[in-house]
Amino acid sequence: MIVALDGPAASGKGTLARRLAEAFDLAYLDTGSLYRATGVATLRAGGDPAQEFDAVSAAKTLDLTLFSSADLRTEEAGVAASQVAFIPGVRAALLDFQRNFAKNPPDGKTGAVLDGRDIGTVVCPDADVKIFVEASLETRVARRVKELQEKGENIIEARVRADMKARDDRDKDRSVAPLVPAGDAWILDTSDLDADQAFAQAKAYILSKTRR
Ligand code: CDP
Repeated sequence: MIVALDGPAASGKGTLARRLAEAFDLAYLDTGSLYRATGVATLRAGGDPAQEFDAVSAAKTLDLTLFSSADLRTEEAGVAASQVAFIPGVRAALLDFQRNFAKNPPDGKTGAVLDGRDIGTVVCPDADVKIFVEASLETRVARRVKELQEKGENIIEARVRADMKARDDRDKDRSVAPLVPAGDAWILDTSDLDADQAFAQAKAYILSKTRR
């Protein structure tokens, strides 16, 4: 079983994906971490994440073992990620890894949950279940501020809002694999749901789709 979870920044899809993977005993891939790692690798090499040559070189030679999750979860990494993600050559370089993960999930699992922006549309268009997770901009900003504060990052809320809005716009407007729900995706708006409620609704939806 392949479950595709897409949606904008801080919509709650990461937490939801992890919990669904555990509940259904599936492997989990956070595809945003591939773009974040490419962005951070470009910066570490002294390159510019918005420049095609720099970003594509980083994507083609990506070694995920060189990154800790703390390196990847900063706002700076998120911004660099959405810059490299805009470049078609970067997306092409990361596609095989994602499709291979879905087709041959690690650890003997019989399926996978992938979360990102284009899983239901490009990476796994034949996924058994597609969920597009939404939430209002204000809800998402509040969640991201809390997440960064809990990590001890010194943040300014207005800056987080501006970065997130710029990132949403870049993700929606790009020509290749823009952030858009697949035609057959179920929309889950988590603006007024906590993590437990979102999980319960998504789990019920998956069971309704997969039980015959
Ligand atoms: O956690 P958050 O939702 O803020 O971001 P993320 O899922 O880690 O993704 C970071 C950036 O990578 C996004 O803003 C997208 O530009 C890009 N991305 C993408 O283009 N396609 C994906 N499948 C996953 C992420």
